[in-house]
Amino acid sequence: MGSPDISPSSLTVVIGGTGSIGSACAEEFNYRQPDTEIILLGRETESGIDLLSEDSISKAAAKVAARKLPVASVIVATGILHNELVRPEKTWKQVNQEALELLFRVNSIGPMLVMKHFLPLLPKSEKSVFACLSARVGSIADNGLGGWYGYRASKAALNQFVKTASIELSRTRPEAICMAIHPGTVATRLSDPFTKKGLNVLTPRDCAKRLYKLLNAADIQDNGGFFDYEKRRIPW
Ligand SMILES: NC(=O)c1ccc[n+]([C@@H]2O[C@H](COP(=O)([O-])OP(=O)(O)OC[C@H]3O[C@@H](n4cnc5c(N)ncnc54)[C@H](OP(=O)(O)O)[C@@H]3O)[C@@H](O)[C@H]2O)c1
Repeated sequence: MGSPDISPSSLTVVIGGTGSIGSACAEEFNYRQPDTEIILLGRETESGIDLLSEDSISKAAAKVAARKLPVASVIVATGILHNELVRPEKTWKQVNQEALELLFRVNSIGPMLVMKHFLPLLPKSEKSVFACLSARVGSIADNGLGGWYGYRASKAALNQFVKTASIELSRTRPEAICMAIHPGTVATRLSDPFTKKGLNVLTPRDCAKRLYKLLNAADIQDNGGFFDYEKRRIPW
């Protein structure tokens, strides 16, 4: 992606770029920043990233580094809530070891490995933004309903990884901002089985517009924060 007439001056990397929110973010960034090249990474893209394989993450990061352009933004838009193995649990009776392991590997450990290999690509003395899509239900303080054990806990673990990495990042890249973002309830294949009538459901495009605005306006005070799509802070 990028404008064919302009040589790019920086890169934006969207991991999970084949997902609903990830692909909408890629389109929005491409439209708003024609001088930035968008690199989409997913399981089915040319430099494939599978969060279950650190090797695939490190190889994809090496390819991005080889471009020798500043990485202005990285958006990690990967995640699972349900699949053939995983179902959000209504009670502890439904908790299943294999499903929990997969949720943690995809939603927490995978993004941490992405941080390990991609945070060092951020410029040392220019603004850059690294955003991980988390979820409000990962907030421990905001958990009033219970249920969804695995998804909630995997997003809470992701939030702790983001916060911890943001502290280390600030030591070498004082202008970089690393944040966890709740994108809102968005009509995607991830949320479709669970969106109830009456909820304020965003389209992926609306969500991407808000995320672009949020990330573009982010500043150093936001490093290590957990925000929703309107930039309201969410308690941990
Ligand atoms: N939709 C909502 O209402 C909502 C609400 C709160 C938070 N979120 C968060 O927003 C993020 C994006 O979700 P979405 O709604 O856009 O869902 P989506 O359309 O299902 O996209 C999920 C993405 O995750 C990728 N993925 C899954 N497992 C992977 C793996 N092992 N390795 C690499 N990539 C993997 C998928 O890749 P493939 O294309 O290869 O399958 C896809 O690109 C997630 O973190 C989700 O938790 C969404």
